Amino acid sequence: MKRPSDGELLAAWRDEPAPLLPLLHAFHQCDGHLSEKTLRAISADLGIPIADLFGTVTFYHHFARTPGGREKPRVCIGPICALRGAQEIVDGLDGATTMPCPGRCDQPVPVLDGDTILCGDTPATLTNVDSPLPPENPDEIEECVFAQIRTPGRAGLAGYRETGGYEGLARALTGSPQDLLESIDASGLAGRGGAGFPTGRKWRAVAEAEGEPKTIVCNADEGEPGCFKDRTLMDYDPHAVIEGMLAAGFATGATRGFIYLRYEYPETQNILERAIEEARAEGLLGSEAFGPGRPFDLWVRRGAGAYICGEETSLLNSLEGKHPFPRNRPPFPVTHGYENLPTVVNNVETLASIPHILSKGPDWYRNLAIGDHAGTKVISLSGDIRRPGNYEVPLGFPLQVLLQDWAGGALGGRDIQAVTMAGLSGGFLAKDDLDVTLDEPSIRAKESFLGAGGIMVFDDSRDMVEVAHAAMEFFAEESCGKCFPCRIGTHRLTERLSGGGPSDLGDWVDEVTDLGQTMKQTSACGLGQAAPLITESLLRYFPDQVAARVENR
Ligand SMILES: Cc1cc2nc3c(=O)[nH]c(=O)nc-3n(C[C@H](O)[C@H](O)[C@H](O)COP(=O)(O)O)c2cc1C
Ligand code: SF4
Repeated sequence: MKRPSDGELLAAWRDEPAPLLPLLHAFHQCDGHLSEKTLRAISADLGIPIADLFGTVTFYHHFARTPGGREKPRVCIGPICALRGAQEIVDGLDGATTMPCPGRCDQPVPVLDGDTILCGDTPATLTNVDSPLPPENPDEIEECVFAQIRTPGRAGLAGYRETGGYEGLARALTGSPQDLLESIDASGLAGRGGAGFPTGRKWRAVAEAEGEPKTIVCNADEGEPGCFKDRTLMDYDPHAVIEGMLAAGFATGATRGFIYLRYEYPETQNILERAIEEARAEGLLGSEAFGPGRPFDLWVRRGAGAYICGEETSLLNSLEGKHPFPRNRPPFPVTHGYENLPTVVNNVETLASIPHILSKGPDWYRNLAIGDHAGTKVISLSGDIRRPGNYEVPLGFPLQVLLQDWAGGALGGRDIQAVTMAGLSGGFLAKDDLDVTLDEPSIRAKESFLGAGGIMVFDDSRDMVEVAHAAMEFFAEESCGKCFPCRIGTHRLTERLSGGGPSDLGDWVDEVTDLGQTMKQTSACGLGQAAPLITESLLRYFPDQVAARVENR
């Protein structure tokens, strides 16, 4: 097919909402890289200074700057794939480069090949495979977001409607936004993207904020290693996410929305765009989404590879075509979000819970949990575990029951030595602390947190200093560099974990502890504040492994 001219590409995107990322992707796709000529053309057309544009483009992992770069295979070298021999795949594939965890930890090693994800244990066995469906839980405990996800055809509009889809929204639209806000408050739903902020409070703040148009952003960046739940939800239940966004739009008075999707989910982008088209064709989205003269529409925007873009204010800068540094807060996105206007940013799982709350009621949702908690949480389980996958558990559920009874325990009859929490950001839990329940109070009492619910399992054969080193290397690579405690601290900790630092063990521990505390107290965002949990928990649970490493250098 003939390549569209630069002018045609620019004309296709310049008047669209949030145009920079799709425009860069359009050129990248056509040319296989982003040349200087392209960047100059985009800079002139969108009025972005060339130096700023250059800095922004080179910040992302996946924008190639040399011919053919886009098509070079990228192999995951995340914490789980590193244990599965990912390096052999890198070495065995012509021109291959590496990438951080692309959210496939429940499958063999993933390789991004153009717009296709291949998975395999060796270069010869790489094939394109669908996301696995979530395993059923053996106790038949009631689910929320996964309740209908295994029904064939649920991803299409007809199948979604057959299983009750859009009924809750239709009922909500007959009431007032205030009724809807009260219902979400009463459900106790809190953000499932990591920070756990009450969803009803966030929506109410946007509803009450001055300034229009208001925006709903679905955070589908899912860059945390060990997390892959949002991909499953979007692949098998995209209309639930759209229905959740529509409900958020109705409750807050927003008229537009974006799904910010990580680069490494190309097939998911097609699924989402198909679902949005279906919803538009039926008038669920568009100029009369909430009735005559009451529009709501939404667009998918694909990221370009940067973990920090999952942080909500970095994400907003990225959407706006700016350098994706986190913003200083306050002000918060609820008043100063996309284009400095009131904005809801919610995680995929949070939004996908909404249709179920609308159809079955807030009390039903709240009571799914055990004890005083509210609702459920999807846990992405991976690593040295017999049945990896996404499991939806009631909040307050015992971790050991999930690990041993639902997921079959460690592979090969071994024992579980440690697990990570919140993907990597919560550090490790081990020994007696594996007796926690899956809820924030229980896990925070162990100086960790549940966050987005990624749990990676390491059996008793693993070198935990090595695992910690790989984790810290990830944070050092992904630190955006805006503030120096994180920019420098993550590198200093990586060096210590690879054998650097004082030769005396006591001095080494003091230095690592001091670095970590400084980072926690002075870093500007969650990345720099969470990274030291890796070293803190390593020292807490595995002092002997640390001592052996430091003393035997
Ligand atoms: C470094 C960093 C990365 C993050 N990555 C994600 C992410 O990939 N997806 C997500 O939903 N939230 C992520 N968050 C949390 C978001 O900033 C934000 O709290 C969340 O999207 C709000 O949605 P919720 O209230 O529905 O959880 C991240 C936070 C930090 C500090
Ligand atoms: S803590 Fe790290 S990732 Fe966050 S703003 Fe500072 S340098 Fe960037």
